[in-house]
Amino acid sequence: MENLDQLRAELMSAVEAAADLDDLERVRVTALGRKGSFTKLMKGLGALDADRRKEAGRALNDLKEDLSRALEARKAALSEAALEARLDQERIDVTLPVRPEAEGCIHPISQTIDEVLEIFGEMGFTVAEGPDIEDDFHNFTALNIPPEHPARQMMDTFYLPERTDGSRMLLRTHTSPVQIHTMMAVKPPLRILVPGRSYRRDSDQTHTPMFHQVEGLVIDETTHMGHLKGCLIAFCRAYFEVDDVPVRFRPSYFPFTEPSAEVDIGCSREGGELKIGAGDDWLEILGCGMVHPRVLANCDIDPTTYQGFAFGLGIERIAMLKHGIPDLRAFFESDLRWLRHYGFAPLDAPSLIAGPGR
Ligand code: DAH
Repeated sequence: MENLDQLRAELMSAVEAAADLDDLERVRVTALGRKGSFTKLMKGLGALDADRRKEAGRALNDLKEDLSRALEARKAALSEAALEARLDQERIDVTLPVRPEAEGCIHPISQTIDEVLEIFGEMGFTVAEGPDIEDDFHNFTALNIPPEHPARQMMDTFYLPERTDGSRMLLRTHTSPVQIHTMMAVKPPLRILVPGRSYRRDSDQTHTPMFHQVEGLVIDETTHMGHLKGCLIAFCRAYFEVDDVPVRFRPSYFPFTEPSAEVDIGCSREGGELKIGAGDDWLEILGCGMVHPRVLANCDIDPTTYQGFAFGLGIERIAMLKHGIPDLRAFFESDLRWLRHYGFAPLDAPSLIAGPGR
């Protein structure tokens, strides 16, 4: 007990001298730990007589308190210093360029839809949409395809389970039902473009059960077949980026148009390689025609006042043609190698706002 002052001095200077938190912990254990110098003294108290024990006990408690306070203070100072040092070391340089990130790309289907919308957008078309699940009326009947019409067999249809009233909903076999939805909701003049999915029970190298179409519809009082031709020729030139691409209108049949035509573009297949624009071969790319008066009447539009044209084209088809993609099914297999090869950089996507200056 005589050396208490000396012990105090030693411990206090050890606390002050601790260079970091580990050091400080060692000092604490040396003094206050189970075998520490201070603890030993506490244990020694029992051997003293009552008076001295009281006196020594108080002195030891004072020392313990002072020591604890000194340890706390030093600990706070060291923690602060450690934090400062860390902040200093881990300073973030906000001027460093960011690390390059792996960038995704635009699927050829999305890219092609954007390109088509952009071209027709410049001609004043706006986008309309409709449901993928349709009823018989919109998908067939209103489009002048009554029950038993052979065109129903041509489009092998996915039907949903029968409803309580005996009717069955279906997955739309084309985007044409959106013509009906639009004409029933909005009065002419109309100039719409409908991108979307279509479904048919078909699967081989050139057919997938789900595919994409873009439908076009123009209705007003004066639009005639010449407008239809001019519009679609302008589209073919812009889309295939060949100014003098030969375009042929071949008479055809669709229940919802009269007259109807299919549009072919000129191409060559020399040496097995398909080239658009040159050569003496033809390739079918879309169907079109003047909207059938009965379709207009089905939508409460007076066919003696209004007329117009419609067209439908397959997105996969024109994407394959333009970009030399051989297999349709690959579009939907989500093979990343395929996507990286045929995909488009986001910045190459056309801006639907600014316009391309074509
Ligand atoms: N709906 C037709 C199909 O899927 C394509 C089509 C042809 C749409 C002529 C039209 C059109 O609007 O006028 O085969």
